[in-house]
Amino acid sequence: MAQRETWTSRIGFIFAAVGSAVGLGNIWSFPFQTASNGGAAFLVVYLAAVFLIGFPTMMIEFVIGRRGERNPVEAFKQIGHGQWSFTGGFGLFCSLVTLAFYSVVGGWVLSYILGSATGAYFGDPTTFFGSVAEGPTAIGTHAVFMALTIGIVALGVTDGIERATKFMIPAIIALLVGLGVWAATLDGASAGYSYYLSPDFGVIVENFWSIVPPAMGQAFFTLSLGFSVMIAYASYLGRDDSLPADGGAIVVVNTLIALLAGFVVFPLLSSTIGLAEAGSGGAGTAFIAIASGFGSLPAGEILGISFFVVLLFAALSSSISLLEVPVSYVSENYGYGRSTTAVVLGLGIFLVGVPATFGTTWLDFYNDLVFELLLPVAVLMLAIFAGWIADTDLVDELGRGSSLGSSFATGWLWWVRVVIPIVLLMTLYLGIQSLSEGLSSGAYF
Ligand code: PFF
Repeated sequence: MAQRETWTSRIGFIFAAVGSAVGLGNIWSFPFQTASNGGAAFLVVYLAAVFLIGFPTMMIEFVIGRRGERNPVEAFKQIGHGQWSFTGGFGLFCSLVTLAFYSVVGGWVLSYILGSATGAYFGDPTTFFGSVAEGPTAIGTHAVFMALTIGIVALGVTDGIERATKFMIPAIIALLVGLGVWAATLDGASAGYSYYLSPDFGVIVENFWSIVPPAMGQAFFTLSLGFSVMIAYASYLGRDDSLPADGGAIVVVNTLIALLAGFVVFPLLSSTIGLAEAGSGGAGTAFIAIASGFGSLPAGEILGISFFVVLLFAALSSSISLLEVPVSYVSENYGYGRSTTAVVLGLGIFLVGVPATFGTTWLDFYNDLVFELLLPVAVLMLAIFAGWIADTDLVDELGRGSSLGSSFATGWLWWVRVVIPIVLLMTLYLGIQSLSEGLSSGAYF
């Protein structure tokens, strides 16, 4: 059998994974979730979710992928547990549902590139958001974003985008740092920082049960976990790379970019529309805040264009991973051509996403469905599989190439066996409760 390709370098793998992880989740979703769920209280629970649950979950996907050396469905067969391949399949399904609304938000970014060039949002960022986030404009930009994603995947030029990540990540960091420094000079910035950074432990305790599901969902979403994407990427990893070291680098860079976005958004919010508004600003929070910043800067057009173009690249390097992995699976397994598969699946997903342009509460529904139901289910299945079904092969796989020693791998195994399932069962219970409350109270539609 032909030798399977591997990443040409360890850095290549890290960049592709970072390209998938860093996206709208960091710059749109993170500030928006933080603002709507109590600010710093959310931040604390979110950071705990990223490091205590997200990182070990990333190791689950990495060991399955590297040991399986196949696509996310076949990988389970390869490691001797074909009955569990539905777990990989479920991740692919989550990718497709997520892409449906991700592309709608990607469309907003396109409108903001144009709006920066013409200065359309400079006067009234809130009204501008309303005019591009729903209705015909939103359907049009959703179509364009989806067409770009399909085009890149169909032509098989995803490498190009992933290579672009090498430039994009530093560019995003530089732009966010620049904006953050400027935002610090605004009147009222300090109220923004304290909302973002000083947790009131009373608030955490009081709202703990309502913070956990969105914080956990945000952690999985931002790290691209539960979507089988990391299983697919890790299947190309060399035998001797250290999984905890690579995963650690990905988690740290990804978290840093989200935190930086908060340093821009919160001072801006407190000095412009006000923090009270921020919480209820919903999905528009980050867009409105950032846009109002550019509106009041001297070279606002240029800065706006650069920022939203970089954000577009970040969004595309994530959206292509959402489409690429299901497309490769379907075309490899059922023998359809790659481009045909990309077009057919992409068109279907476009249609599924259309209702998310009816209004931001519809988009909230897709978001909550993925965050509060699909992702916890996907990760719960992965944890049960890795902890209780797969044999110790997976534990050995975690130790391979790593200098952390076998006690790290054993500690991980017990964490995956006991802690992650308990936390996820609880999250799932709360998530289902909040989803059904939303549905019965008419909060979505
Ligand atoms: N992690 C991406 C973000 O934060 O924007 C979203 C995402 C991309 C999730 C790819 C899952 C995935 F497979």
